[in-house]
Amino acid sequence: MHAQPSTAAPASRVPTLGARSIGRTSRAALTAVVLTLASAAAGQEGLPGDAPGWTGLTEVDEIIEARRVLMIRTEELMLPIDAFAAGAEAESETLRAAAESIEAMLLALPHLFPPTTNRYDPDVLEPETRALPEIWRDFAAFRAMATAAEEAAAALADAEDEPTGRAAALRLRGTCDGCHSRFAKPYTPPKVTEEDLDFDFDSVFPDD
Ligand code: HEC
Repeated sequence: MHAQPSTAAPASRVPTLGARSIGRTSRAALTAVVLTLASAAAGQEGLPGDAPGWTGLTEVDEIIEARRVLMIRTEELMLPIDAFAAGAEAESETLRAAAESIEAMLLALPHLFPPTTNRYDPDVLEPETRALPEIWRDFAAFRAMATAAEEAAAALADAEDEPTGRAAALRLRGTCDGCHSRFAKPYTPPKVTEEDLDFDFDSVFPDD
């Protein structure tokens, strides 16, 4: 029997490994430098890095859509609550379920307003977002309104009797309207007012 040739690793492997580890080291060093520069730049801009998940940077349209859909669904859930606040009879379980859902939705609401979604355009009749720049000028006040609304929803969910429930339902509607009047552009269809009708059209056409 002849001895088999040695299966030892070819000599070339050693330099390759060496080269690879040197490459890895310098790549790591380079990455560190790049990351330092990137985070310095990000720090300057007040922006997070480019790791996946910063949807405020990468999915602005989707965030705006998400908050609008959330708000529209909240409005639907308010139907029995508004009716109850106005004096209609209501099943307490229906009210409680709606109020609990609204409470959870309002808890999430303020997190759907990263500064990149400050995109209101006053020149467009149907803008992509009706969230006003005022939100980011006074985000603390915006947050406080979301909290007040969420607490009103919780009070309704926990109400043990009708008067307490009605008061909470009214307060909840008041918080929706309060936030919108300061932070969202209402949709106002163009309409003719009394003032328009009384307008003296002749005054703008100087007679000759
Ligand atoms: C903290 C502030 C805040 C509170 C509280 C709030 N909203 Fe809103 N809502 C907004 C903003 C801002 C917009 C505009 C969002 C956009 O266009 O990007 C909006 C939009 C809406 C819209 C229009 C959605 C669309 O695009 O057609 C409805 C409907 C709505 N809200 C219902 C409600 C109801 C009902 C409540 C109370 C249960 C409520 N909101 C509470 C801030 C709030």
